[in-house]
Amino acid sequence: MGSVWEGVPLPLAMALRNRLHLRVAVETGTFRGDSAAALAPLFEQVVTIERSPELAAAAASRLRPFPNVTVIGGHSAEEILRLGATLSRPFLAWLDAHWCTGGTGTDDECPVLREIAALDLAPAAAGSCLLIDDARLFQGPPPPPHDHAAWPPLMDVIDALRRRHSRYVTLLEDVIIASPLEARKTVDDYWLGRQSETAGKRSGFPGRLRRLFRRR
Ligand SMILES: C[S@@+](CC[C@H](N)C(=O)[O-])C[C@H]1O[C@@H](n2cnc3c(N)ncnc32)[C@H](O)[C@@H]1O
Repeated sequence: MGSVWEGVPLPLAMALRNRLHLRVAVETGTFRGDSAAALAPLFEQVVTIERSPELAAAAASRLRPFPNVTVIGGHSAEEILRLGATLSRPFLAWLDAHWCTGGTGTDDECPVLREIAALDLAPAAAGSCLLIDDARLFQGPPPPPHDHAAWPPLMDVIDALRRRHSRYVTLLEDVIIASPLEARKTVDDYWLGRQSETAGKRSGFPGRLRRLFRRR
């Protein structure tokens, strides 16, 4: 999970949705369904993929109040390949199917490169956005009990993100962000906003006072 947001960073998801007119969100690694539930009011359709049959069944039951959310049981890379072929419009992908705790994924801790390759075959991939959680685990070898050999280094992830499509790629608050080039300003503005929020919290000034102060 991200260091600042629990699950998907919603303000960024909303900003990208608005800029690129995204209607569909795809998540890999449903777990309890928290991010899927948070995305449900923001997107017309949310599809979330979970490899553990038990977690998929529990999440499907928990997410029943959200009729626009579908839980798919299966391996993220295989299911993305199938799903991507059916999506005709750009989408937001929240890639979070790497192993953190629990049993699922210990034999395949980090399928992110295969997820990116599968997703990039989707007809709408070029206009879509990818957000990858747990960036810190790619910045250097992840600590035990992770098998660090199973985790690609950050540069390999970035190379994969730019292999088939021109993308703006950056890393903010434990999330790797890849957007179409035309959404770069949206990502940058999000980051500038987050930094001024953090600075405001540190200084103790309310936002309005801070803005007045800066103008002088
Ligand atoms: C960090 S949790 C996901 C948290 C969730 N995305 C959220 O924001 O609330 C990782 C989840 O990925 C699942 N998982 C692991 N490998 C997977 C794979 N190859 N395909 C689909 N799900 C996988 C695990 O069972 C676990 O539920």
